[in-house]
Amino acid sequence: MKKNKDAQASWGGRFSEPPSKLMLRFGESVSFDKALAEFDVRGSCAHAKMLRDVGILSASECSQIVKGLESLLKKIKSGDFVWDESLEDVHMNIEQALTAEVPAAAKLHTARSRNDQVATDMRLFFKSACADMSGRIRALMASLVELADTARNIFIPGYTHLQRAQPVSAAHHILAWVEMLARDCERFAFAADGANVSPLGSGAIAGTTLPIDRFRSAEYLGFVDSDSGEPILTGNSMDAVSDRDCFFEFAFSCAVLGVHLSRIAEDVILWNSSEFGFVKLPDSFTTGSSLMPQKKNPDSMELMRGKSARMIGNLNALLVLVKGLPLTYNRDLQEDKPAVFDSYAQASICVDVLAACAAEIKFNQGRCAAAVSDPLLLATDLADYFVMRGVPFRTAHHMVGKLVALSENKKVPINELPDEDVFGVCPEADCDWRKVFDIKRAFAMREKFGMPGLEQTNSQIAAWRELLGMKSHDSNSKKRGAECRGKKK
Ligand code: ARG
Repeated sequence: MKKNKDAQASWGGRFSEPPSKLMLRFGESVSFDKALAEFDVRGSCAHAKMLRDVGILSASECSQIVKGLESLLKKIKSGDFVWDESLEDVHMNIEQALTAEVPAAAKLHTARSRNDQVATDMRLFFKSACADMSGRIRALMASLVELADTARNIFIPGYTHLQRAQPVSAAHHILAWVEMLARDCERFAFAADGANVSPLGSGAIAGTTLPIDRFRSAEYLGFVDSDSGEPILTGNSMDAVSDRDCFFEFAFSCAVLGVHLSRIAEDVILWNSSEFGFVKLPDSFTTGSSLMPQKKNPDSMELMRGKSARMIGNLNALLVLVKGLPLTYNRDLQEDKPAVFDSYAQASICVDVLAACAAEIKFNQGRCAAAVSDPLLLATDLADYFVMRGVPFRTAHHMVGKLVALSENKKVPINELPDEDVFGVCPEADCDWRKVFDIKRAFAMREKFGMPGLEQTNSQIAAWRELLGMKSHDSNSKKRGAECRGKKK
């Protein structure tokens, strides 16, 4: 019991009874917020230096505190630090351990509350986590661009409604994934930008009477405009300690990324099935069945799909957590961290797994070629052919529909129907109508920007290679990349 009372030395003054053991266990957050140790130490060092600059700490007190914090961080990183749940959270654990070593640290919490402290720590965390996620996503994009590079001349059906629609190259399909991931990178950059604002100095709710310099601590922490170097500060102390928008934005970025990864995983699962047979996943990212000896299951991709549910759930949990809270800080907000940390952990491992797996995916060219040989994939090209001969598109669509029905009734592939059938349906057709079913032509006709033409794909690959700082494979690719990037947004 005595220990409990001592543990609350930082706020226990007005209490006659210590918190119950059950309350301590219920209220602690150190089991998860110890992940913030590095940011907490950085925040405290900056705060101490600012207190020195305004004359609240002496130079020697400040340097003892900073040195003490640095050696504590080393201890934490090496795993030698003993966390105490009865001290509630990471902030109190570090402060009390520091004060035991450095008496001057009793002044460290001057003009600061855990409310602005935790807001500061989390903003530092988000900046670091967003940069880390961008790096991982870029590595994944590079791995997919390499895969696309090997699949430039592998043609597959593209699907709508999971029905064969029109032919694409496997590269074009994979580059669609890369586009999705590029937007994820932008979303994390946006989230990092939103986090780049210093709440430090907002205190518990209404700032402080002490003569602090918020601009100074913001500068020490790198909460500055990347162009001008000017510090960026939150403008309202009440908003600063209750705002959790950065949490939403980070969790949202993870959730959208999760949805993208899940869709990619679903494509891969389908492609890897015996029914499609377009690709083979590496043994290293598949698992066997404990019962059926023949099975090789795409568990890595299924988990990718499954984990996206967690990331979506975490975003939802955060929104619901905050929606009914009166301003400003309420202890409910302590529950904001597990959701964010979990999203970060899941998002990062999912990205790493897909990058590693993609590097070893092998296409089955025979199965792809068989699937894409279905001439109906080029039914729309036939309608376009009629359009080029002056037929209105709606009529052309109808004509081709009739030819499809005819080929079905006669059990003859559409491209093998006799000329008379085609001329009967479309008098404008020439005897070269069959050339439409040459897949090379189909791709050559699709060389407009953003389409699956082979030159387009080459340019896109070159552009991505350049953007991602990858080695280029052919001498022309730099030039093509530059041309293409000009057109990318
Ligand atoms: N562990 C707390 C949290 O994460 C820190 C803030 C505590 N503030 C308070 N007024 N009790 O929310």
